[in-house]
Amino acid sequence: MLLEHVLQKPRAWLLAHDTDQVAPAAGAAFLSLAAERRQGKPMAHLLGYREFMDYRFNVSADVLIPRPETELLVEVALRTIERLQQPTVLDLGTGSGVVAISVALGRPEAIVTATDISVKALIVAQQNCQQLGARVQWWQGAWYEALPPEGRFDLIVSNPPYIASDDEHLFQGDVRFEPSLALTDGADGLSAIRLIIAGADRHLLPGGSLWMEHGYDQADDVQEMLRKHGFRNVQSLPDLAGIPRVTGGTL
Ligand SMILES: C[S@@+](CC[C@H](N)C(=O)[O-])C[C@H]1O[C@@H](n2cnc3c(N)ncnc32)[C@H](O)[C@@H]1O
Repeated sequence: MLLEHVLQKPRAWLLAHDTDQVAPAAGAAFLSLAAERRQGKPMAHLLGYREFMDYRFNVSADVLIPRPETELLVEVALRTIERLQQPTVLDLGTGSGVVAISVALGRPEAIVTATDISVKALIVAQQNCQQLGARVQWWQGAWYEALPPEGRFDLIVSNPPYIASDDEHLFQGDVRFEPSLALTDGADGLSAIRLIIAGADRHLLPGGSLWMEHGYDQADDVQEMLRKHGFRNVQSLPDLAGIPRVTGGTL
């Protein structure tokens, strides 16, 4: 992949030209990237992008690297709004914008709003939005505080930071290179989810839905919180590994 990236040629071309000489500048660029990779730098940072829902999103060290399991959140979002003519959708903690932009591209007539506390993340999200030709309104700030007061939505989605601050996964693999703000709530892993659920009734339209991605062992807690706050039809959906990964309900 690194050689494909440096030479800007597809894999089939590389296989067909496997005895060609590589130009010195390209060779040096490849060796430098390979050295960074050996030190653990994520492929998405070396390439500068990651594919998500068949779209190519720019990725930098300022945003979470989009994960395949988050595609489930987009699929649920699109299913939830499929019968609404001009649905209003809010994505809280948008990062590189993958969820908001994928929903906006999947339903161009939807009015999609996205927020993040990180200004740097919002810059990446806006670049992605422009490059992919989507229509999304962006607001900066903490969860619902970022929004203008009148905002009410048919659907709220979020992939908030849900790793507990003492979780050993924070010190392994790609995660070491991602913004801590995108990974952990600095507490028990559920504090951002708690805030999002607690504030949902003030921002959902009657009959509106909330869906959130969460950790592999958090589905029961998230379901309980949703029911306590009056949500109906609460359910969790499994990712491709069969782990309940996305939980939501209707108010
Ligand atoms: C797990 S990342 C998700 C990014 C993106 N939605 C995705 O799925 O790839 C969580 C995002 O929440 C943002 N965030 C963290 N704390 C926040 C807060 N208090 N208010 C709003 N956004 C916050 C982070 O900056 C980060 O972009």
